[in-house]
Amino acid sequence: MTTPWWKTGVNYEIYPRSFQDTDGDGVGDLKGIIQHLDYLNDGTPNSLGVDAIWLTPFYPSPFYDFGYDVKDYCGIDPMFGTMEDFDTLIEKAHKRGIKIVIDLVFDHTSHRHPWFIESRLSKDSPKRDWYIWKDTRPNNWKAFFGGSAWTYDKETDQYYLHSFLPEQPDLNWRNRDVREALFDIVRFWMDKGVDGFRLDVINFIYKDREYRSNPFCFGRRPYEMQHHIYDRNQPEAHQALQELRQLVDLYGEKMLVGEIALDKGEDSTVASAFYGKNNDELHLAFNFEFLNCSWKAKAFRKAVDLWESSLPPGGWPNYVLSNHDMPRHYSRYARWGHTEKRAKIAAMMLLTLRGTPFLYYGEEIGMRNVRVPRWKFQDPVGKRYWPFHPGRDEERTPMQWNTNDNAGFTIGQPWLPLSRDYKKNNVQNQLADPDSLLSFYRRLIWLRKKIPTLLTGDYRVVENSADDYCYTYLREDKDGRYLIALNFSSRILDLNLASGLSATGQLILSTLTADQDNICLNPLKLCGNEGMLIKLK
Ligand code: GLC
Repeated sequence: MTTPWWKTGVNYEIYPRSFQDTDGDGVGDLKGIIQHLDYLNDGTPNSLGVDAIWLTPFYPSPFYDFGYDVKDYCGIDPMFGTMEDFDTLIEKAHKRGIKIVIDLVFDHTSHRHPWFIESRLSKDSPKRDWYIWKDTRPNNWKAFFGGSAWTYDKETDQYYLHSFLPEQPDLNWRNRDVREALFDIVRFWMDKGVDGFRLDVINFIYKDREYRSNPFCFGRRPYEMQHHIYDRNQPEAHQALQELRQLVDLYGEKMLVGEIALDKGEDSTVASAFYGKNNDELHLAFNFEFLNCSWKAKAFRKAVDLWESSLPPGGWPNYVLSNHDMPRHYSRYARWGHTEKRAKIAAMMLLTLRGTPFLYYGEEIGMRNVRVPRWKFQDPVGKRYWPFHPGRDEERTPMQWNTNDNAGFTIGQPWLPLSRDYKKNNVQNQLADPDSLLSFYRRLIWLRKKIPTLLTGDYRVVENSADDYCYTYLREDKDGRYLIALNFSSRILDLNLASGLSATGQLILSTLTADQDNICLNPLKLCGNEGMLIKLK
């Protein structure tokens, strides 16, 4: 039996607004993505080599939450192009062996969705029960983006529930017709040849049947001052996901990867529960542990151990360093003089651990969070919470392709400002430099494809004499044994490794040198901020 693609493939998240604009309106589009498919994977090591792209929402939307407020799940917003463009994208991506994963936002719709418009009309509307309406606010629930989760609607003198913005009313998953309608949307996209779905905040879909108030806890903003035990993670969600899984399984090897939002301090066991006790729900639930790790060997090691031990038997791990909701890791781990080296170590870890890696567009060239002046803020989170939260615009700025105006992203006015360093830091320059971060990502991704042990081999921590600074692990199976040693500190290390390993190995890849020599493992010498991938004899 071959291993499914979603276990071995490298996923690349694209935020379509910011990838490539082809019509000069300053916003990226589907044609722009098509234009760069060869960059992503042309079948040779001259390209990045990703196996799947995940597109964040491109559906018709009023864009209160930048597409996470959908008004037609089976359409394409004209800003991004047409359905024909989407069909071309699928066809051209598949020709190159690239899978297409799309985002499904099923917890809520836009308030402009015809379902909500109809639901809102009257208390006897056939769609009334498709959303959650109450005469009074029944509890203390808060909206993730601020304020109460209940908004009064004067037309019918009732309140409706929204876990995010008031413009994002929550669907009522307890209504069978709603579930049927959503499953039809899944069928629609699978019939088009889509290979997988990223399910937005999928642990929010069911709420407590009795609408009980959440208990209080300490936190910074009102939303964080509640334990979200009644407005998410309800047992009924598991049953619904089992049904969804059965549906997608009918179409062959598809992937369901779900976003499970966690409370501060809640660990990944909450997320891994959504694989299902019998691995019959999500194929993958995003593991966001790395997003909160400080730059310490032990922090990452702990995060991996926690995830490996919390998965149900047979569950497959996954790792993420950056995404469209969190500050980019290049900025999180910035340290003067060391940032580039750290980015290479992070990449080596992400791409050699046991589990599916998810990259975020631009991380391969070390894109940073870009300071966006307040008057240019787009994200509702930034608008509401600045200066306590700068919003998410900073990690969503346009891709830096080349040294042309606006980094080649657009000939118009970009919807968000570009990084000021783009003349230096861009794809074109990095392709020409064998030591660049991009060249390193490419080498690593193509190497991974050639070494099945790195894809499916077992993972085992190797104790070393400098555990505080260095994270060492093995990937091993009947075909080989590989040691990965990642020095998170800037000191030179002479590592003694736990016994049982061979005395020498062959260096396959270092984050610092191009050497590929035989290497002594007893002790193993690592420079500061160096990562090594070593084939054991
Ligand atoms: C998810 C998305 C985020 C969006 C939110 C509401 O967390 O990743 O961007 O704002 O859901 O749909």
